[in-house]
Amino acid sequence: MCGIVGYVGEQQALEVVLGGLRRLEYRGYDSAGVAILSGSDLLVERKAGKLANLEKAISEKELAGTLGIGHTRWATHGPPTDRNAHPHQDCAGKVAVVHNGTIENFEVLVRGLEERGHARRSDTDTEVVAHLVEERYDGDLAATVRSICKDLEGSFVLVVAHQDEPDLVVAARRNLPLVIGLGDGENFVGSDVTAFIAHTREARAVDQDQVVEVRRSGVVVTDLGGTVVDGETYHVDWDTAAAEKGGHEFFMLKEIEEQPAAVRETLGGRMQEDGLLHLDELSMSDDDIRQIEQVVIIACGSSYHSGLVGKYAIERWCRLPVQVEMASEFRYRDPVVGRSTLVIAISQSGETADTLEALRHARAQKAWVLAVTNTVGSTVSREADAVFYTRGGPEVAVASTKAVMAQLAAVYVVGLYLAQVRGTRDTDEVRAHLADLLEMPDLIQEVLDRMGPVRQLARELQDAERVLFLGRHVGYPMALEGALKLKELAYISAEGFPAGEIKHGPIALIEEGTPVVVLAPRHALQAKLVNNVQEVRARGARTIVIATDGDESVTPYADTVIRIPDTKSLLTPLLTIVPMQVLSAEIARARGLDVDQPRNLAKSVTVE
Ligand code: M6R
Repeated sequence: MCGIVGYVGEQQALEVVLGGLRRLEYRGYDSAGVAILSGSDLLVERKAGKLANLEKAISEKELAGTLGIGHTRWATHGPPTDRNAHPHQDCAGKVAVVHNGTIENFEVLVRGLEERGHARRSDTDTEVVAHLVEERYDGDLAATVRSICKDLEGSFVLVVAHQDEPDLVVAARRNLPLVIGLGDGENFVGSDVTAFIAHTREARAVDQDQVVEVRRSGVVVTDLGGTVVDGETYHVDWDTAAAEKGGHEFFMLKEIEEQPAAVRETLGGRMQEDGLLHLDELSMSDDDIRQIEQVVIIACGSSYHSGLVGKYAIERWCRLPVQVEMASEFRYRDPVVGRSTLVIAISQSGETADTLEALRHARAQKAWVLAVTNTVGSTVSREADAVFYTRGGPEVAVASTKAVMAQLAAVYVVGLYLAQVRGTRDTDEVRAHLADLLEMPDLIQEVLDRMGPVRQLARELQDAERVLFLGRHVGYPMALEGALKLKELAYISAEGFPAGEIKHGPIALIEEGTPVVVLAPRHALQAKLVNNVQEVRARGARTIVIATDGDESVTPYADTVIRIPDTKSLLTPLLTIVPMQVLSAEIARARGLDVDQPRNLAKSVTVE
């Protein structure tokens, strides 16, 4: 949470920094701010609210200079006001600091600073760093930051500029993401590569407790002892256009449209000419794979729902027990994992603190951890034993759509590969399932092409107070996903249930007209689902049924039918998810809400 960017080069820093912040705004939008070194003055502008407020506030101002830092905030310490917006400064106004994370011992540090005569001007933990730089700076900003980092507890990425350092931005990292962008005569730091993707595709990851000195001529990374450390650079092949809205009103609407391509990318290059899978990226020998005794999937939010679908697929195809655990709970219940456990950590951002801590716990128990992530170079990808990149492309909207779609494709691929190697499905069957998967991008496109009636439905449901989602089998995780999307986007109370469970309590929620979305694509439990639709309708529900083309079994009991093409029942989540995404986005739009940046949320949740 919080997006940070730093730049030193030949371009006007304000433009570069604002461009980076626009792309990082998904990380938090409580306030935004910049500091630009203009001649010998460090000019700081900051404003509560979205980046647009800051842009408006500075539109008439002169902020010329080729060194700058910027921040977009998700508030932790202190309310989202101008006063608490970053950058924060020292007493003399010579230092500017932006920060992502929390400094846990800041109160002790504040007391010391106040005793030594520093005046506090915000409620934030961050401000202490600016005052500590003021106290300790003796002409070597990097050494100063290294010394301060040793005294900080908690998680942080810091980016610091000093009025007396016209060619230097210093950044430091502990537990939270920081990436270096390597340019020609210009260099960058950012929370992720989108901060600088418009300027360079060459990136370098920063490891734990490292300090980065960014100058026009190059970048030096040291540990906290000041020893220079090497690191790998990598090329980012994300298309810049993919991080733009491309004519859509909201990123989310564009990202929904990009889902067929996301699945194609996830599947692409992972199949051999003989129609079987080839997954070197798992870094496991066939013997290792045969020795797996259980699979544990850890993830949060929508990624957790992808994991639940993975459970159905892996158990069916591999005959292995699979547990799916919310990452935030995993390590606190002393889970039973060990050498014969394959842990799959699913995370779009690869930076979710809960997932990262769960991953670390699993590795400490000697489990083999496979990261399934969308983000190359992310912390999860670097700390796992192996990585399966989902290749969904940059996802900017806070509500995840194409990244979840790519995760679903990924869990099917991983499940089929395990089955292939373990021999629990014969090769012809694996080929047949892969052939079905390869058809999915076209079927997803078909669903997308039919969304007109769903948009109309959204207008009808925009004033609903509560919506329920029901599904069975793989429809159950998708019911959870439908409810999550509606909650986060439209702020409508929504819950997902296994359809068979509602009679055990939730059915009491149904009143005359309560919308109930039932995921009822054709599969073995169809008859039971038809019963459930009747049960809720008998109690006054307005039934909205997602059904397979040609299936008329539910039509007598459905107030609205949303049709999807036929596919194998295990793969239906790739289709049923689409109308629910569109429905939630369109209800949010009809209610006049910000589809891309729902209130109180941030895309990358880097606090526990
Ligand atoms: O980056 P991650 O996949 O680890 O993020 C996990 C959740 O925070 C994320 O899926 C969240 O639930 C989204 N807002 C869902 O749209």
